[in-house]
Amino acid sequence: MIELTRVSKRFGDETAVNDISLRVPKGEFCALVGTSGCGKSTTLRMINRLIEHSEGDITLDGQSIGAYDPVRLRRRIGYVIQHTGLFPHWNVVRNIGLVPRLLKWSTADVQARVEELMDLLGLPVVEFSHKYPHQLSGGQAQRVGVARALAADPDILLMDEPFGALDPITREKLQEELAKLQARLHKTVVFVTHDMDEALKLADHLVVMREGRIIQQGSPLALLQHPSDPFVESMLGGLERGLKQAALTRVKDHMTSMGPTLPAQSRIPVNFSLRQALSMMLRDHTDRLTVVDQHDVPIGDLSLRRVIKEAQLDKGSIRE
Ligand SMILES: Nc1ncnc2c1ncn2[C@@H]1O[C@H](COP(=O)(O)OP(=O)(O)OP(=O)(O)O)[C@@H](O)[C@H]1O
Ligand SMILES: [Mg+2]
Repeated sequence: MIELTRVSKRFGDETAVNDISLRVPKGEFCALVGTSGCGKSTTLRMINRLIEHSEGDITLDGQSIGAYDPVRLRRRIGYVIQHTGLFPHWNVVRNIGLVPRLLKWSTADVQARVEELMDLLGLPVVEFSHKYPHQLSGGQAQRVGVARALAADPDILLMDEPFGALDPITREKLQEELAKLQARLHKTVVFVTHDMDEALKLADHLVVMREGRIIQQGSPLALLQHPSDPFVESMLGGLERGLKQAALTRVKDHMTSMGPTLPAQSRIPVNFSLRQALSMMLRDHTDRLTVVDQHDVPIGDLSLRRVIKEAQLDKGSIRE
């Protein structure tokens, strides 16, 4: 649905984005990662025409973005940035309802939509409706920013380091919420981040950029297994690469049936990752775990041997 073909952007003599081609099918979550200044934000801003590209083609649903009216285009595309861009003198309700009001929805419809979104993003209406941005924590403001981007139900969401300014715990919570939201809403998302773990966790398609170019793109697992060069490998965490791959693989896909002897108390829920399993094995000095279902009932075994052996086979990604 979003397609960039040989797109470049020059600012004066400087080439910020250099001949990139990228396809983001409908409903896919695409993450752009790369060092500072490599052209990630410029790429996003070309998609909603905040910046006009210098060369190449950008199409939405097969139609050149040049053919869309820029204002209408931006209303179709939700845009979230790091410092939320909330209007400081507007309360939460007014901020979230911005685009529906611009689209001239009825007051009742705007109100209903705002309340629906506040509910979806865990912002209790009674508590937050009348707060102003300066009365919100970073994580709360970020939720309001996401709610605002979703308000007119855009099919496309562009997110530029939306969780960049948050502490790791709040960040992880919002990542989980975003993943849940995406599983329900199936937006077409282009997400920029510095944080490779965040990208690996959320993305269906991972794009590694450097100095305006795309160096490699593909599924997170494909990149982890076959980084095309040392730069991509170092972006993917160098020696940590094996653990990052284990983080994308589920216990469920590697457990064996229950052995005759039940191993000790070390129990791991079936939906956990192999990375968590390895961590538990290290912590408990064991090479075997009992896999349990959501009711804590033992349903299988997981051995270190199996984890190591199976990790070589290309199967079972969490994102599949
Ligand atoms: N409006 C502009 N005028 C001139 N140069 C610009 C402009 N916007 C971006 N650039 C340059 O284009 C290059 C890419 O910038 P961009 O903001 O896309 O990088 P980025 O990958 O988002 O970086 P970061 O991770 O630091 O946010 C940089 O060298 C930047 O200085
Ligand atoms: Mg940027």
